[in-house]
Amino acid sequence: MMPRLPSPGIPHLWWIDAEAQEVAPWRAGILARYLGVLPADIRIVRNRFGKPMLGDPAPLAFNTSHSGGWTVLAISGGEPIGVDIEAVQAFPELGAVAHVHFAADVAAGIHALPAGRRARAFAREWTRLEARLKCAGHGFGRRETASWREGQIVSFSLGTIVGAIASEVPLMAPRWYRIARSQPRTSIGERRSGLPPIADLELA
Ligand SMILES: CC(C)(COP(=O)(O)OP(=O)(O)OC[C@H]1O[C@@H](n2cnc3c(N)ncnc32)[C@H](O)[C@@H]1OP(=O)(O)O)[C@@H](O)C(=O)NCCC(=O)NCCS
Repeated sequence: MMPRLPSPGIPHLWWIDAEAQEVAPWRAGILARYLGVLPADIRIVRNRFGKPMLGDPAPLAFNTSHSGGWTVLAISGGEPIGVDIEAVQAFPELGAVAHVHFAADVAAGIHALPAGRRARAFAREWTRLEARLKCAGHGFGRRETASWREGQIVSFSLGTIVGAIASEVPLMAPRWYRIARSQPRTSIGERRSGLPPIADLELA
């Protein structure tokens, strides 16, 4: 069965149990399934800031992020999308980085938290920032100029992984798919938020 294309504002988030360097065939395979073509026909190009996108006109857009042994592939119904995930971890310069990259009240809010809660709060803000920069397509290569509304950025988490998606259109709840590296590539299991499979999408 071919996955249905995402509706506007309801992106599909594919969680892939794989490191960055292992992801290209999975990504090509998943994109090919949506488009009804062979993985070998998926041509990916990058903009001057490194954002990968489909090289041929298509009714979907995607973005990828890697952290903590996971990769997330976000797929939209064509509108630009950005995704970022980070494994929550404390580090000594957390306060200084927050001060440089976040609005003053946000950085102060993180600083005011009990030490044990700062890393997760930082990761939440950081992923929201990176998802915006990745949606715009310039990452940290250029200063942010777009203005964002609250509903255009959605945060999520899976255990110790925190993430966010950003879109140019208002976002509703994303749909989750989870696949394991150990799974044969001929069978992609669909799971919602790590719950038991709700459907199996058979790959040809
Ligand atoms: C995009 C960026 C924020 C991601 O950083 P990160 O947190 O280390 O990495 P993540 O795991 O979250 O994301 C990596 C993925 O983001 C995607 N990506 C790369 N550059 C991107 C960009 N400019 N916009 C959106 N997505 C981008 C890619 O899919 C990449 O994975 P892949 O190479 O396996 O396909 C960072 O690389 C950046 O700022 N890049 C721009 C640098 C730049 O301006 N270079 C200019 C000269 S080349």
